[in-house]
Amino acid sequence: MSIYRSDPALFARTSEKQVRECLTVLYTRMKEDRMVGFLFEGKPLEAIVEGQVQLVCAVLGAPGFASYQGRSLPEAHRELPLLPGHFDRRHELLREALAAVGVDEKVNAAWLEADTAWRRAILNSGEFARERARNAQDSVAGASDAPSASPSPSASSKAPPTGK
Ligand code: HEM
Repeated sequence: MSIYRSDPALFARTSEKQVRECLTVLYTRMKEDRMVGFLFEGKPLEAIVEGQVQLVCAVLGAPGFASYQGRSLPEAHRELPLLPGHFDRRHELLREALAAVGVDEKVNAAWLEADTAWRRAILNSGEFARERARNAQDSVAGASDAPSASPSPSASSKAPPTGK
C-alpha cells in the first residue's frame, strides 16, 4: 500500500507552514544533537528542510504537491555512513518536534508511519559510505599500533571522516 495519502481532509488538519515549522525544529535539534549532529557539519540545513517540506506535503495529500520532485531518498543519503541508531534517533527527534509544534493527532500518525516506511531504503543506501568509514577507522587504528613515531603514508591519506 502506498504511503501517499490522497485524502485532502487529512492535509486540512495541518498546513505547509506547519510542516515547515516542524522540519525546522527537527533539523535545528538534529544539528545540535550529540549522536547525529556531526552528519550535518557543512550541510545546507535550509535546503534539506525545503526538500522535505515538498516530500511531506506530498505524502500528506496537500493539493499542488502531488509528487516529490527532489533527489530520491537513497540518492540523498548515499554518501552518509548511517546506522540504524542514527535513523532511530532522528525518528525520536521527529516525534518530539511534532509534539512541540502541536501537530494534529491524525497528521502526526500518518507522518510517523511514512517515516518508518522509508527506514529500509535510507539505511540500505549507506552501505558504501559505511564501508569507507570502517576502512578509514582500521587505517587509523593500524597507524597507532605502529612502533614508528612517523605517521604511515597510507593512514594519513585515509583520514577518518570529519563529516565535512
Ligand atoms: C525517513 C527519514 C528521512 C527522510 C524522509 C529524509 C529526507 C531527506 C531529503 C529529502 C534530503 C535531500 C534534501 C535535498 O537535497 O533536497 C535529505 C538529505 C540529508 N539527510 Fe535525510 N532523511 C531522512 C533520514 C535521515 C537521517 C536518519 C539522517 C542522519 C541522522 C539524515 C541526514 C541527512 C543529511 C546530512 C542530508 C544532506 C545530504 C547532503 O546534501 O550531502 N537523513 N534527507
